Amino acid sequence: MKIFEALRQDHEKQRLLLKILTETSGDTAARREYYQELKTQLESHAIAEERFFYTQLIKKDQTVDMSRHGIAEHHEIDELIEKIDKTDMSSPAWLRHLKTLQEKVEHHLADEEEQFFQVAGKVLSEQQKTSLATQYRQEMEQSLKEESIA
Ligand SMILES: [Fe+2]
Ligand SMILES: [Fe+2]
Repeated sequence: MKIFEALRQDHEKQRLLLKILTETSGDTAARREYYQELKTQLESHAIAEERFFYTQLIKKDQTVDMSRHGIAEHHEIDELIEKIDKTDMSSPAWLRHLKTLQEKVEHHLADEEEQFFQVAGKVLSEQQKTSLATQYRQEMEQSLKEESIA
């Protein structure tokens, strides 16, 4: 597996969780569970993606700007999550904020998949694409395991 495929697989999980959450309402156990899962996915993905993908690309002239842009969006996503955390789940504002997060994340994933991956594909060696995928997946596995123990 190459790094792009590994990242895309987790992007799909994020899209699905966001979609499910936009169809929930009120303060329910199911909503809490899906939201917790979404947060874990988003946060673990951003860390592992920065560590094993962006760090390689921020070093190269062709991808330095895209890398900085992507990392800035990770911070914006974090801030939206914080805002949702502070909002009462039973209020209509919660779903509004969630939808803002959905738009932001969808935009970010599209940027990565349609633009960044194309350029990164030319910058990384074939060997790197494979080894980064392994490292990324190991890190994700580890952080999801830690999350389930906590
Ligand atoms: Fe990503
Ligand atoms: Fe990202």
